[in-house]
Amino acid sequence: MSSLIATGWWHACAQSARSGMERSTMAARWWLLLLIGLAAAAAGVVRGQGGAPDTTGFINIDCGLPEKSRYVDDVTKLKFTSDEAFTDGAGTIHNVSADYATASTTTDRSLYTVRSFPDGARNCYTLPSVVPGSKYLVRARFMYGNYDGLSKPPAFDLYLGVNFWQTVTVPSADWLGIAEVIAVVPDDSVQVCLANTGAGTPFISGLDLRPLANSLYQQANATQGLVLVDRRNFGVGGNATAGGVRYPDDTYDRVWLPWSNPPAEWSDISTTEKVQNTIAGLFDVPSVVMQTAITTRNSSKPIQVSWDTHPNHDYPDPGMFFTFYVSELELLTGNAVRQFNISVNGIIWTKQPYKPVYLSTDSLYNAAPHRSYSRYNFSLYAAGNSTLPPILNAVEVFSVVSTGNVGTDAQDVSAITSIKARYQVKKGWAGDPCAPKNLAWNGISCSYGISTPPRITSLNMSYSGLSGDISSYFANLKEIKYLDLSNNNLTGSIPIVLSQLQFLTVLDLTGNQLNGSIPSALLKRSQDGGLTLWYGNNPNLCSNSSSCQLPQKKSNSMIAVYVAVPVVVIGAVAVLLLFLIKKNEAKGSVKPHILGSGLPSHSQNGSEHTSLQQLHNRQFTYKDLAVITNNFQRVLGRGGFGPVYDGFLKDGTHVAVKVRGESSDQGYTEFLSEAQTLTKIHHKNLVALIGYCKEGDYLALVYEHMSEGTLEDKLRGKGSNTRSLTWKQRLRIVLDSAQGLEYLHKACSPRFVHRDVKSSNILLNANFEAKVADFGLTKAFKCDNDTHVSTIRVVGTRGYLAPEYVTTYLVTEKIDIYSFGVVLLEVVTGQPHILKCPEPVSIIQWTQQRLSRGNIEDVVDTRMQGDHYDINGVWKVVDVALKCTAQDAKQRPTMTNVVSQLKECLELEENRFREDLSDTYVTGSSIDRNSSYSTYATELSQGSTTFEMEHNLRKMPKRDIGLPTLR
Ligand SMILES: *[C@@H]1O[C@H](CO)[C@@H](O)[C@H](O)[C@H]1NC(C)=O
Ligand SMILES: *[C@@H]1O[C@H](CO)[C@@H](O)[C@H](O)[C@H]1NC(C)=O
Ligand SMILES: *[C@@H]1O[C@H](CO)[C@@H](O)[C@H](O)[C@H]1NC(C)=O
Ligand SMILES: *[C@@H]1O[C@H](CO)[C@@H](O)[C@H](O)[C@H]1NC(C)=O
Repeated sequence: MSSLIATGWWHACAQSARSGMERSTMAARWWLLLLIGLAAAAAGVVRGQGGAPDTTGFINIDCGLPEKSRYVDDVTKLKFTSDEAFTDGAGTIHNVSADYATASTTTDRSLYTVRSFPDGARNCYTLPSVVPGSKYLVRARFMYGNYDGLSKPPAFDLYLGVNFWQTVTVPSADWLGIAEVIAVVPDDSVQVCLANTGAGTPFISGLDLRPLANSLYQQANATQGLVLVDRRNFGVGGNATAGGVRYPDDTYDRVWLPWSNPPAEWSDISTTEKVQNTIAGLFDVPSVVMQTAITTRNSSKPIQVSWDTHPNHDYPDPGMFFTFYVSELELLTGNAVRQFNISVNGIIWTKQPYKPVYLSTDSLYNAAPHRSYSRYNFSLYAAGNSTLPPILNAVEVFSVVSTGNVGTDAQDVSAITSIKARYQVKKGWAGDPCAPKNLAWNGISCSYGISTPPRITSLNMSYSGLSGDISSYFANLKEIKYLDLSNNNLTGSIPIVLSQLQFLTVLDLTGNQLNGSIPSALLKRSQDGGLTLWYGNNPNLCSNSSSCQLPQKKSNSMIAVYVAVPVVVIGAVAVLLLFLIKKNEAKGSVKPHILGSGLPSHSQNGSEHTSLQQLHNRQFTYKDLAVITNNFQRVLGRGGFGPVYDGFLKDGTHVAVKVRGESSDQGYTEFLSEAQTLTKIHHKNLVALIGYCKEGDYLALVYEHMSEGTLEDKLRGKGSNTRSLTWKQRLRIVLDSAQGLEYLHKACSPRFVHRDVKSSNILLNANFEAKVADFGLTKAFKCDNDTHVSTIRVVGTRGYLAPEYVTTYLVTEKIDIYSFGVVLLEVVTGQPHILKCPEPVSIIQWTQQRLSRGNIEDVVDTRMQGDHYDINGVWKVVDVALKCTAQDAKQRPTMTNVVSQLKECLELEENRFREDLSDTYVTGSSIDRNSSYSTYATELSQGSTTFEMEHNLRKMPKRDIGLPTLR
């Protein structure tokens, strides 16, 4: 979001909207004016009594300043320091080009140097000593100033800790930008991170932290932060010199900018009297800001101001907060009345005309974020009996961001941070190890609970040049499942504490200089099949009794272990060997790989050890599959062709392994080329084929795991989560599936006809997103279970087969459309595709028969009763389904058409849910001035004194306000 306040996207609209402004120059000009203004303010403006206010907890950083340098800022008298101590050594420092380091660009010298971060996906500043649970203002400042000589202003993302803050898009070299967020900080330090989004090297010029009173900005709480869009001080006319207000006038050092180029219709009024805050600690707008205001010259003309919202990739529909600060500045006499209303895009906002109070700051604001418009045009206009025009002293505009993501478990963070320090890891490990998910550290995978902190479950530090002992900090990663330390220069013995990692299933120590013996507890676990242990290529590691030497400086208590080990080692190797040979005998042709005997190798090409993480989209060996599935332990289900096993790749990716033990009549090369094609197909609504295995006639496919199982099971109420799907979930699922099929039909190269579309081939993930499974390999996986038709030419499932396909064997996209129509009917009715009532009847006939009685309710799944749904949407889906299942293939719609119809249905449903404009707008003046904050909170919820926005939308069920949803 370009809510940097100096980007120039706001518009002053006195009667007519301004347009065509040259952004960057305008922005630069304001800043210039501001900075001159600040200088003037510092020089001339009357300070609060007793000198400068408290600056305890202020952090003022001049990024890129050489280490240990510091200075006192001329304007604010605040002490600025180098950023070196806050960066963990990341990034490089630069001076901006001499062309920009001049007073004509900016007098703010902190902008003359920058720190840039050419390496790493994310780099962070850590601001220490914050009070957990307190509210802070965090402000980042930017001037590119062509510091790199490339004349290429970048764009990048900012994060506050693990939460996305905003995107910074630098328009020009002289652009002076501010990003500001108000948030509650959960920990005793807070990180500000810059993420490289591929649009240039992130950099930063300055960083400020300001503690706020917790009573300020009530809309900011533990889960919701406020990103500054605009903060204005009205009524300083064209004289911006007087307009810029910040510390010390603002005790929190907020920056109040003048409204540049105010329209001629506005007229300024001001007072020299102090303006009081209605309730101390609620808004705390500086008196000097409130002492100036605008009205209109002609009292029948409104004050018009407007702001655009600026959606970004994380907030396509940003929620907005507006606060208008108002105080009467004239002592009204006689019959003079100043009363006005505010409207938003023509809709009246204030319920009753509002009357400002003399010399008392009041505010009009919305208590819940507003999302209805992309541009908000406000009009302040005089009420009917008002003799004076409206008045406006100051404004703040924010957009809301979620701060609800939590960081990784503290113990994991502490362990991995120690590991990072111990081995001096240079992998761009910065910020939180697991969160946000897209920025998790290289080589780390995590589990993400719904309300619990992420945990590190996998750590790959192979080929990382590690030397020295294996740190016992690894044993503090309590939930780790996969630990790969292979191919480093690790020495010493294997720490026994590693055996306390109860979830560890893969430990790879191959290719190091380890010595001593393997802790017996680890060996025992590998023997029991609970742990896969690789330790080959450690010349000094004791793996048989004769070569075993006791390490020199071990305590007595360790000796027993080392003595006991050799016996166990031999036992374990023997058992493993036996196990593998047996297994492979049963499977036929696969050669065993002996664990622990050296580098695990992939038999196909004898290539060296490749970490499983790199094996996406590739060929697995039988042995890989044994590791992945933990020796084929857990069967997820059985497809037509054979069992499906649960498994994890080494990087923690959850997979499903489909195995067909018996021979297929398809040739090896043919299979490989088909499989390779399929691994290249990626669409969010197609189950991804991660890899495959073909050894002799042993055949297996490795798919992404879909935790919620098949649509069929969900409709039948089978499976773990038996809650019936809501209508909206059903619509999403069919829309997702339709999009997957559309992709196969249209976008895929080569094009695919699925040929076996059915509800059991539509899989759901944890978020109930649907993906189509089992496309493409119909030849390889042809089978003969009873409902499945598989002749030389017909592949598919009874009840889903298009009539012309059965008679002519002609494969066209229309046969998928037909089958998909059947799926749609299953989704609406909750019935199986062939009903037994008592004679078998197809779901198409069943639906038609019931519909002929004219009542749609008759066909709707009874499990959706009590759930609200839009009946028109249901009709529409049934209509689409019946068109899809038309006997004549030519009459069936295309998948693209189906997709667009289903989208409309989903929109119907979502509109039902869409939050209306019932947000409550509140004024502070209705509050008893003597009351404490807690009474204020009650007042808000009672609503007796609140303004309600008049709006004629029906009252709808409240939508959960979380992250905005994509439409
Ligand atoms: C923060 O405020 C939002 C909106 O008022 C609310 O939905 C949310 O529950 C609040 N969070 C906390 C932790 O109070
Ligand atoms: C602008 O404001 C400054 C500071 O208050 C004042 O000294 C100056 O005279 C003003 N200029 C104009 C043109 O009003
Ligand atoms: C002006 O009109 C409003 C209602 O329209 C009323 O509440 C208010 O008392 C009136 N003010 C005066 C001074 O008559
Ligand atoms: C181990 O260290 C030696 C010398 O100290 C070096 O030559 C070798 O490349 C290192 N091996 C690995 C895998 O880092």
